[in-house]
Amino acid sequence: MMKNPYWSNHAIYQIYPRSFCDSNGDGIGDIPGIISKLDYLQRLGIHIVWLSPLYRSPNDDFGYDISDYEAINPEYGTMEDMERLIAEAKKRDISLVMDLVVNHTSDEHPWFLASKDKNSPYHDYYYWREGKNGKAPNNWTSVFPGSAWEYVPEVGQYYLHIYGKKQPDLNWHNPKVLEEVEKILRFWLDKGIYGFRCDVINQIWKDSLENGKGHSPSGRGMEHYLSRPGDHDILKKLRSDVFEHYDCIVIGETVNVDYPNGRKFLDQELDMFFQFDTTGVGKPATPLYFPHFSSQKFMEKIYGWQKEVAWNANYLENHDQPRSINRFGDPAHHWKESGKMLALLNFTLRGTPFVYEGEELGMLNYPRMEEPKDYQDVSAKNTYQILKKYRIFSEKRIRRFVDVYNRDHERCPFPWDSSKNAGFSSSDKPWLPIEANVSFLNAESEEKDPDSIYAFYQKLIALRLEDQTLALGSIEPLPLPDPLYAYRRIFEGRSEMILFNFSSQEKALPKDFSLEGTLRLATYSDTCLKGKRTLRAYEGLLLQEK
Ligand code: NOJ
Repeated sequence: MMKNPYWSNHAIYQIYPRSFCDSNGDGIGDIPGIISKLDYLQRLGIHIVWLSPLYRSPNDDFGYDISDYEAINPEYGTMEDMERLIAEAKKRDISLVMDLVVNHTSDEHPWFLASKDKNSPYHDYYYWREGKNGKAPNNWTSVFPGSAWEYVPEVGQYYLHIYGKKQPDLNWHNPKVLEEVEKILRFWLDKGIYGFRCDVINQIWKDSLENGKGHSPSGRGMEHYLSRPGDHDILKKLRSDVFEHYDCIVIGETVNVDYPNGRKFLDQELDMFFQFDTTGVGKPATPLYFPHFSSQKFMEKIYGWQKEVAWNANYLENHDQPRSINRFGDPAHHWKESGKMLALLNFTLRGTPFVYEGEELGMLNYPRMEEPKDYQDVSAKNTYQILKKYRIFSEKRIRRFVDVYNRDHERCPFPWDSSKNAGFSSSDKPWLPIEANVSFLNAESEEKDPDSIYAFYQKLIALRLEDQTLALGSIEPLPLPDPLYAYRRIFEGRSEMILFNFSSQEKALPKDFSLEGTLRLATYSDTCLKGKRTLRAYEGLLLQEK
């Protein structure tokens, strides 16, 4: 039987600092803003917070391009503010997890600046290569579309960047890079940080720089740097050199990971990892075809991961993924019901549930960024430009496609109340527009409403803390016709059943399906088990069976 780690019964709350709370009226969230909202997190019941990057950064990718790992971005505050945040969080029994972005640095990092000198020891911290016949060293394309190589005339060489061109890849073949990263880890762990969420950690090791297959304008060449044995070696080394010596958590962002690699990552490497299969369901590959979301495919993926690995980092949305109600629910007709049902699903699977800021309020995507010139997201900007260059698709199709992936939508400021800028900032121009529905969709009003999405999250967070079956039990899917779903969680002779209708129509349960037990939680406040044979739109239940 698995031992009971701290994170087995805690939800992890993700803060995207830029959009959480602005204390000084510059339109950008900051650390004093986060401190001022710790009481809110405490009331919600949160004990672990993951902070998206707060380090010094020129913000090409809003902090995922770091120019100093041991300094705070001045827009967010100072190192003293950060230390105060750690201390204030601790007072409230909240541990902080930081983002570790070490596939790449910013091109403004002193290592990179020094690396432009071919004779500097820093030259080999990055992938600098000669061109081939006047072209890039290979045909790889960046994850944020376009070539993965940038030529620098003053160096006479190209450097590799599998993300934006201001995000040069670190060369992990150089042992100095590992040494530097270990120093950074200790720096933060010694300050009292409870661990790291490791950005694109299964892409750091490049097996070779041979040409990639296919023709994709994004991610070509990935077969040479996705979940390679070198990633596993590095993670094992980081664990034995550093993590093992602290009480900490190591979460991996593992792009397009498969089951065998997922299992390896859980073996003395990561405590849990994010897979991309579930959030990828129904996303278009090109502007030619926009598939419909299928609850069946979505649940197949969820069940697949539940079955194949011992522990999952369960999530439905984050700063890279659209708001889950927009993607998987029915924001127009069943906003509250679908928001609660999705929460029930996320919290009752085996694994650690992640909540992205505002998810607990049922936050929605900002409808649409007005014009491409207003895009803030580097990936949206690049995708738009490249698709325009192809001259194959109409402007309308291109915009629709970019709209699916544009991360600005889910990064809109947190709605605290119904005052100016939803209480996020006193500025006349917050860095992104404010959500359209803040008159009712805001923390202040939802905290007062016992039937709100917020109140439902509060119950789920508390339930996870005390319910051993949900924390540690096995999971057993029960056969039901789509869009009805049910599974059992079983632990030491106790059993709970979770049941829901993943659609906007009322659905009858099969005649032989028995609903026996005590109702512990329901997404509708008036649900009663007696004689119940149908589930209403997005209705979900949690029954204690034994
Ligand atoms: C994954 C992060 O979550 C995303 O926001 C970032 O753009 C890329 N990695 C590159 O660091």
